[in-house]
Amino acid sequence: SKIVLAYSGGLDTSVAIAWLKEKFNAEVVTVTVDVGQKEDFKEIEERAYKAGASKHYLIDAKEEFVEKYIKPAILANALYEDAYPLGTALARPLIGEKVVEIAKKEGADAVAHGATSKGNDQIRFESAFKALAPEIKIIAPIRMWGMTRKEEVEFARKRGIPISETSSKYSIDENLWSRSIEGGELEDPWNEPPKDAFEWVTVPEDAPNEVLELTLEFEKGIPIAVNGKKMKLIDIINYLNDLVGKYGYGIIDHMENRVVGLKSREVYEAPAALAIINMKKDLEKIVLNKREYRVKRNMDFQWADLVYEGLWFDPIRVELSKFAEMMNENVNGEVKAKIYKGSFRVVGRRSPNAIYDKAITSYDSNWFPSDEMARGFIDAWLMDSIVSYRKRYL
Ligand code: ARG
Ligand code: SIN
Repeated sequence: SKIVLAYSGGLDTSVAIAWLKEKFNAEVVTVTVDVGQKEDFKEIEERAYKAGASKHYLIDAKEEFVEKYIKPAILANALYEDAYPLGTALARPLIGEKVVEIAKKEGADAVAHGATSKGNDQIRFESAFKALAPEIKIIAPIRMWGMTRKEEVEFARKRGIPISETSSKYSIDENLWSRSIEGGELEDPWNEPPKDAFEWVTVPEDAPNEVLELTLEFEKGIPIAVNGKKMKLIDIINYLNDLVGKYGYGIIDHMENRVVGLKSREVYEAPAALAIINMKKDLEKIVLNKREYRVKRNMDFQWADLVYEGLWFDPIRVELSKFAEMMNENVNGEVKAKIYKGSFRVVGRRSPNAIYDKAITSYDSNWFPSDEMARGFIDAWLMDSIVSYRKRYL
């Protein structure tokens, strides 16, 4: 039989290759999907073969990740629990899709992933498998074998499977949109993340003692230029991860509610994602009217929850994406921000589609509405509140 495994090159999935081979007497085909993680893909391929893979695929899905996953996330200002820009959650359905494509091409009997029973990733992978190949058998080796990390290392050592140094300290998942850091000493929520946990962001105390001025131009809600220079979105993301990270901005440290009824302490680095979303949210405030803004905010929460919870393949996710796209039709213009030692402050915004109108709003131009109009308005606006409050609480 033949099993296609989503292969990251880390300890778990490397051990999984040998384990699947032995346990199921199967041929194991590995698929590594490049979603922008900074890895040595040559080394990953070699490791796959050393662990016993019969065939390895490397799929460059960076552009697709940006077009089909990151763009909708930007349109929906997606931050799970107001914090996490969903890098891992967004990449999983795409990796699942690529694994299914290879499984079909290879005529495989089963697909496999390296997620645990404690996490969200198992749900995200399996929803992709079930949506795109409902008949295929799903194997989750890490859930089945019950080995501890120590036992995995021993298992790998015995079979001569090379494991990378970094896979020991934290559990890392990285792509263009965010870098997730879990495990090790971070499991005690009181422990401050050590500096060595971070690769994209310079901790604020070590960041340069100078201000970074940043202007982003948006077209229909998507960034198209940085400081006046037009760039492709993928280049903007890479550029901002590097630049904004150097100035100490982009670390997230929060207690997260997982789909499985667990809380976990999650640390992320996402300088580009946070800068883009915060600036875009600001631009929406000058473009959308009050009711549009309120409704969109609610729908944005829903979108982030769905994607986090492994429901990429639920129709409402598609429908909410269309809504977000429609609401961004007029989100054009520029936002400027100042970044200084980890602090991030929007200092200006302008849009050709602004609802905001200085001529109406200004305290300097006229006194419209008049005193009489204001009295009438306030009476009508407050009527229900005042009457009921007085009856009940006074
Ligand atoms: N808690 C985050 C999420 O659910 C990060 C998961 C990181 N995954 C990993 N395999 N290390 O999206
Ligand atoms: C895992 O279980 O593989 C990682 C954590 C998660 O999916 O949330």
